[in-house]
Amino acid sequence: MEKKLFDAIDYSILSSGKRLRPFLVLKSSELFSVEKERALRVAAAIEMVHAYSIVHDDLPSMDDDDLRRGKPTTHKKFNEAIAILTGDSLLTLSFEILSDTLTHSDAKIRCELIYELAKAAGACGMVAGQMMDLEAENKKLSIGIITRIQRLKTGALIAFSCNAGAILGRAEKKHKFALQGYAHDIGLAYQIRDDLLDVTSTTKKLGKKVNKDKKAGKKNFVSILGKDRAKKQLEFLSNQAIKHLKVFDHKADLLREVARFIVERKK
Ligand code: IPE
Ligand code: IPE
Ligand code: MG
Ligand code: MG
Ligand code: MG
Repeated sequence: MEKKLFDAIDYSILSSGKRLRPFLVLKSSELFSVEKERALRVAAAIEMVHAYSIVHDDLPSMDDDDLRRGKPTTHKKFNEAIAILTGDSLLTLSFEILSDTLTHSDAKIRCELIYELAKAAGACGMVAGQMMDLEAENKKLSIGIITRIQRLKTGALIAFSCNAGAILGRAEKKHKFALQGYAHDIGLAYQIRDDLLDVTSTTKKLGKKVNKDKKAGKKNFVSILGKDRAKKQLEFLSNQAIKHLKVFDHKADLLREVARFIVERKK
């Protein structure tokens, strides 16, 4: 009887996303020579939380989207109840993975990962951002408030992804702070690029509907600052992110590439 749920979970997690968050877990872990098997488990866990956030974000009661990654959204392919349960399943499975001894033999490290992911995903993290994003429809908002919304709804999971490597690798404070600064900047930059693509790209290229923020009366960097100033802000954040990586050697080169990719990405 639960087969449909497993089909919907597979459909939602295995579709063709960019896998940015898992990549950040793997690359931040490499900085501290973390065993790949461990990093991969945390990478899978964060991608599950991300996939859940998207499945719920697309629901009719949220952004009401029909298309995701070039395919019907989970509630369109299956139904709304199954999409809700798919999100619930992915979220809980991520914590099951983190709590397994295969993720790390030291219970303190497992607890820290669980604690940090719970904070990043929950009512003071991504969910708070999603709540504020809904409340922000058709309201006049300052750039400060918009920044806060973006940092929470998108930045929090990205920040966890970078922090995960530091936790797994028991990084010293100096390195933890550097990664936090980097994550802070790319998290905001990532959402600014998403908002820019919403007004400049096409549904075919993006695999999701365009012009939906304006339609929904959503306030974001682009609607407040305009495309050019939003683009400048994006470039500024990307450069600043790269500067935070100064404490790391060539091992951080792919993280530098990520910061550049965020400015240029086409989907
Ligand atoms: C989309 O995230 C939603 C945002 C937080 C901007 P991604 O652009 O990372 O989506 P996928 O995983 O590549 O589809
Ligand atoms: C989604 O932001 C953020 C989360 C899923 C947490 P958007 O609503 O802008 O993402 P898209 O444009 O639907 O991918
Ligand atoms: Mg949304
Ligand atoms: Mg959306
Ligand atoms: Mg968007």
